[in-house]
Amino acid sequence: FVILFAQDWTLGLVLLAPAVPLMILCSLFETKYSVVARRAQDQVGDLTTVVEESVLGIRIVKGFGRHRSQAQAFRALSHRLRTTELGKARLLAGIWALITAIPELAIGAALVLGTIQVADGTLSAGTLVAFLSTALALRWPVESIGFLLAMSQESATATDRYFEVMDVAEEPGAAPVREGAPATGPGMVFEGVEFRYPDADPGSPPVLAGIDLHIRPGETLALVGGTGSGKTTLTALVPRLHEVTGGRITLDGEDIATMERSRLRELVSVAFEEPTLFSATVGENVTMGAADADEQQVRRALSVAQADFVHQLPRGLDTEVGEQGLSLSGGQRQRLALARAVVGEPRFLVLDDPLSALDVHTETLVEAALRQVLERTTAVVVAHRPSTVMLADRVALLSGGRIAAVGTHQELLRDNAEYAWLMSGA
Ligand SMILES: Nc1ncnc2c1ncn2[C@@H]1O[C@H](COP(=O)(O)OP(=O)(O)OP(=O)(O)O)[C@@H](O)[C@H]1O
Ligand SMILES: [Mg+2]
Repeated sequence: FVILFAQDWTLGLVLLAPAVPLMILCSLFETKYSVVARRAQDQVGDLTTVVEESVLGIRIVKGFGRHRSQAQAFRALSHRLRTTELGKARLLAGIWALITAIPELAIGAALVLGTIQVADGTLSAGTLVAFLSTALALRWPVESIGFLLAMSQESATATDRYFEVMDVAEEPGAAPVREGAPATGPGMVFEGVEFRYPDADPGSPPVLAGIDLHIRPGETLALVGGTGSGKTTLTALVPRLHEVTGGRITLDGEDIATMERSRLRELVSVAFEEPTLFSATVGENVTMGAADADEQQVRRALSVAQADFVHQLPRGLDTEVGEQGLSLSGGQRQRLALARAVVGEPRFLVLDDPLSALDVHTETLVEAALRQVLERTTAVVVAHRPSTVMLADRVALLSGGRIAAVGTHQELLRDNAEYAWLMSGA
């Protein structure tokens, strides 16, 4: 532009004039385009979710003959995405057309004006040619603005999404020790524990409230309660998968909120309702519970969990289990998950209904072996069946997020109607 102005400033102004409307158009385009680009990315997310769920749940989809409705959902979402993408393309085409056409018009105008000046003799033909050649050299950089704008808008929205994830506050590590809180005794102690899921309505009642429990060292407490009463939630609080929203939990007198997460999770072992195995060997899946466990300990854990079937697998402990352990049966997976929980001989053990998928005979065998492990640890075991309750020294009945009663199986059976009702069906 400096060269252009030096050659002929009136013609230079003619060329520069479209810059103002172009800038306004570009900023309008940016605002619109960023909205559409974001929408497209969200819709890609929705579409991926449907695909993922259909693939993971392929057996349910087939079993209930839902393939048509799944395909329809897929089609509807991809149609929506296609519409959005077409809208994006239309916007881009529009701005591109303007960015190409307006400078061309300006060059055309400069040509007409220049020719008149040459005819009037105020401008030499050579200068006009030089001017126009220089102007044409500017064409490509101007045209590529449209393309760059679209690219940078798309990377801006992608970056937004990336930072939405990265900016989520990190889980708090160890909180400072609270002064004045009296030390509690050994074992696992729940003091006025209250919990509310972070995504729950602010006005809704908490899932757990006023939980006071003292599990003495070496004791096993069975947690019994109707479905949805909060048992799984309570067990998840001990390894701090969720943070208590009120009260505190102490292990041997130490508030778990003040412990390093890694140390806490070494102290506490868990087995949850859905036994998740990873795509790795059977041995690796078990030693996940204690990285330094030796062969001997793994064997012992497997025998406690009655998971000796692994020795019959083609490659024993080195057998790879498929994605999510699909090649094993539900009960086999559950026993491996149990072996993983007990392999490190943890001080504290939390088991969420660990025997639900076993037949009665296997269950009896696991219980017999588990009894020895439980003798040496402080444990909370969620139980639905009287046979599992028998593993425990005492029972706590959870009802509507509160501890309704604590006592031995016999006491509760005699004194508590809800407990008797829960146990009688089995
Ligand atoms: N991630 C979550 N977000 C919000 N609410 C949840 C979440 N998980 C569970 N809940 C709610 O908390 C309540 C207790 O659920 P929880 O899983 O602890 O029950 P449970 O006693 O383990 O039941 P079950 O015997 O069926 O396993 C339920 O009402 C459930 O809807
Ligand atoms: Mg549960």
